[in-house]
Amino acid sequence: MTQATPDRVAAVVILAAGAGTRMKSTTAKVLHTIAGRSMLSYAIDAANALDPQHLVVVVGHQREQVEVHLAEIAPHVLIAVQAEQNGTGHAVQCAVQVLPDVTGRIAVISGDVPLLTGETLRSLVKLHQSGDAQMAVLTSTPADPYGYGRIIRDGEQIARIVEQKDGTPEELAVGEVNTGTYVFDGPTLRDGLGTLQANNAQGELYLTDLVAYTHGRGGRVLPMVIDDAWQAEGVNDRVQLAALARELNNRIVTGWQRAGVTILDPLTTWIHADVDLAPDVTLLPNTSLEGTTSVATGAVIGPDTTLVDVEVGEGAHVARAHGSLSVIGPGATVGPFAYLRPGTEIAAHGKVGTFVETKNAKIGPGAKVPHLCYCGDAVVGEGANIGAGTIFANYDGVTKSTSTVGEHSFVGSNSTLVAPVHIADGAYVAAGSTLTADVGAGELAVARGQQRNIKGWVGRKRAGTKTAAAAEAALAKQEDAQ
Ligand code: UD1
Ligand code: CA
Repeated sequence: MTQATPDRVAAVVILAAGAGTRMKSTTAKVLHTIAGRSMLSYAIDAANALDPQHLVVVVGHQREQVEVHLAEIAPHVLIAVQAEQNGTGHAVQCAVQVLPDVTGRIAVISGDVPLLTGETLRSLVKLHQSGDAQMAVLTSTPADPYGYGRIIRDGEQIARIVEQKDGTPEELAVGEVNTGTYVFDGPTLRDGLGTLQANNAQGELYLTDLVAYTHGRGGRVLPMVIDDAWQAEGVNDRVQLAALARELNNRIVTGWQRAGVTILDPLTTWIHADVDLAPDVTLLPNTSLEGTTSVATGAVIGPDTTLVDVEVGEGAHVARAHGSLSVIGPGATVGPFAYLRPGTEIAAHGKVGTFVETKNAKIGPGAKVPHLCYCGDAVVGEGANIGAGTIFANYDGVTKSTSTVGEHSFVGSNSTLVAPVHIADGAYVAAGSTLTADVGAGELAVARGQQRNIKGWVGRKRAGTKTAAAAEAALAKQEDAQ
């Protein structure tokens, strides 16, 4: 006989239809990000921790954007449309319409409470189950309860929830508040939703009225007070968004420190949720690791470095750099002051040094691009050296072409490689060359004007200057010496 695991819930409903007016944004509130991911994605993760048979997201305000995002991050979810936002109770009515007639447990959470964890949700489900409750409500006791619904208890149980705008001074003096996270049993939710009425200060259908409904019929409504108040915090404006982003970053940074990463300055180090770090990585101040960046053991990143979707190999050093969609090989060094654009791949022990910009560039093992260089659409072979000031002129205004430098070849300083040119293995390019043709193995290419020294020019053309006087004195000394 197969049985659902005890924690499995029939459905989770995520409320994400509200207008989010206080964000003052053309972006839907639940799509604003913290630690590199949308607030909605955290709610979906928490919901998925319950392994629900059905996951419903209620969308309404700016729903086109939200639906596009959901198609990307969670194509399996059911979408319920709440065309007009008539309150949280109305939102759940809309959700129930897209659900099959489930009888099991249904959890309801908000899309704008990004720190709520799956673990907390699981505990709430367990309470609903072990306490033989019809409804379980996650509550908290924040420093300032203003704005939240207040929990009116009846002993161990909750008798009703009173909204800020509807409460008497006595009710509003209660410090325990509703976090907007609930577990219901299916029939209680369905029946209760049918009884909701908008006779309240906001003229909305309140989901919270299901407490009085359930309690009034002799059902059990149990609270679970959460100590970690951050998990209950919702985002209504950008001040709260930043506060929660800071708190999540603190948690991520602390987590990596406990996992063996040295982080000198937690306050100026930002690490996105999907970043992966190995033990004995060191992060120096003002470092931001974003997207799916990964850093292998022994690497040192920073100070003043931003890496977005970059893979950093073991023992690499990256200082004062900005990189995206790039690979930095083991033992490689980057910076200070380097800009790695997409498609940069630095092999083991390669070097991209000071004031160097790379784009779609493969730097071979041990190859060096140490100073002042634009290296775009380039393939640089193992052990090659690119002199200071070299430009890979990859763009003729119409098309971009690739140039190659062979293994252990040496490009002299201030050279311009007009792409496409191919320098073979073991070749030299004289400093100051402008290459428009290929160079063969073992050859030295010199592509610049022959030097000419015109004797007596300064005396003739700059007579009477300090330069002319210096020349005269130097020439006189030479004559005396002879
Ligand atoms: C709600 C609770 C309050 C609780 C607080 C916790 C009600 C009546 N009140 O108040 O007790 O303390 O959350 O944060 O439920 N939403 C919709 N459709 C709507 C209205 C809201 O989808 O028509 C969504 C919002 O997008 C949001 C969530 O429901 O994700 C909560 O809505 P919000 O308006 O923020 O409720 P509060 O007034 O904060
Ligand atoms: Ca809210």
